[in-house]
Amino acid sequence: MPPSTSPRPQPRPEIMAIQAYVPGKSRAPGVAKVHKLSSNESPLGPSPKAIEAFRNEAGNLALYPDGSAYDLRAAIAAHHGLDAEHIICGNGSDELISLLAHVYLSPGDEGLYTQYGFLEYPIVIRAAGGAPVSAPEERFTASVDGLLAKISSRTRMIFLANPNNPTGTYLPIKEVERLQAAMPSEVLLVLDAAYAEYVEKNDYAAGVELVSRCENVVMLRTFSKIHGLASLRLGWAYAPPAVVAALNRVRGPFNVNSAALAAGRAAIADRGHVAAAAAHNSHWLPWVSERIDAMGLEAIPSVGNFVLVRFPGDRFSAAADAYLTARGFILRAVGAYGLPDCLRLTIGTEAANRGVIEALAAFTKDFGHGR
Ligand SMILES: Cc1ncc(COP(=O)(O)O)c(C=O)c1O
Repeated sequence: MPPSTSPRPQPRPEIMAIQAYVPGKSRAPGVAKVHKLSSNESPLGPSPKAIEAFRNEAGNLALYPDGSAYDLRAAIAAHHGLDAEHIICGNGSDELISLLAHVYLSPGDEGLYTQYGFLEYPIVIRAAGGAPVSAPEERFTASVDGLLAKISSRTRMIFLANPNNPTGTYLPIKEVERLQAAMPSEVLLVLDAAYAEYVEKNDYAAGVELVSRCENVVMLRTFSKIHGLASLRLGWAYAPPAVVAALNRVRGPFNVNSAALAAGRAAIADRGHVAAAAAHNSHWLPWVSERIDAMGLEAIPSVGNFVLVRFPGDRFSAAADAYLTARGFILRAVGAYGLPDCLRLTIGTEAANRGVIEALAAFTKDFGHGR
């Protein structure tokens, strides 16, 4: 098309200030066997019952899905002991993160998140016309005092991933409660518990009880991680009725498709599959982390299904990324998080875990000698 001299439609200026989210790589050109360890997906995949439920939907494709997600909300509510009226489903928890920002931020309002917090947060805050404000972390972990110190009269929301991606660290529920008690009641606290099912710590809770008793707390969950349904895009929020009512006004009327609704119900019912995925992770997460530490690298202590690996410098991590990719192990570079000396590694199948550790050990020996 020849360049036009007429004025073009222009997006709002703040949209062009956004650094687009770059998902984990999924290709290693020229490598026959690829292990994608870059997106925190489940190495066990979904429950066979969820796959069957997905297939059964093939006969109903002409029909709109149930826009209220009634049966799925009932299944989630029954499993977690919640009131289904306080649950809202989304096209991935990503959609709910975005809707929350659009509903609760006006231009100029501040949305708070933590230094190494999930990168979607500053994106949605900007997209809603707000100003993202980052609060310092301590030892790669969110700090309640750091967050409280950044609250201003313009703060309207706080996004806290617990556990956090990409660090894998978490805040005990007592700390989250301390944050909620000290922050203004008109500020909304969004607890993003995408990795909750993997956590095996007595002092952790995803936030159900806090949502039940506070009007300014929302908990987000996803079917993308332990349930292995990332491609179907299914997440949910447990929220006070006023928040659910606001979100229901702006979400697409059929935001969750029928296949996701059916597969999600089957997935939540298959407790054996969830337990197997959790057991796989609790075996391999320490196995991988210990071996990384033993190589002289640093595995940031993680409670999720991934581990942040810290190298002695940016050149070291970039070379490791290239070396591993050339051997079919795709990790996640996290320079966009301000962590250029780190790579994030998802816990994979046994073959992937053994293979990536072997390759990393070989690389560390070579690169260490070459320095
Ligand atoms: C902390 C966190 N929140 C939310 C999401 C998005 O999940 P979903 O697939 O439900 O959109 C992710 C995905 O990586 C995540 O790490």
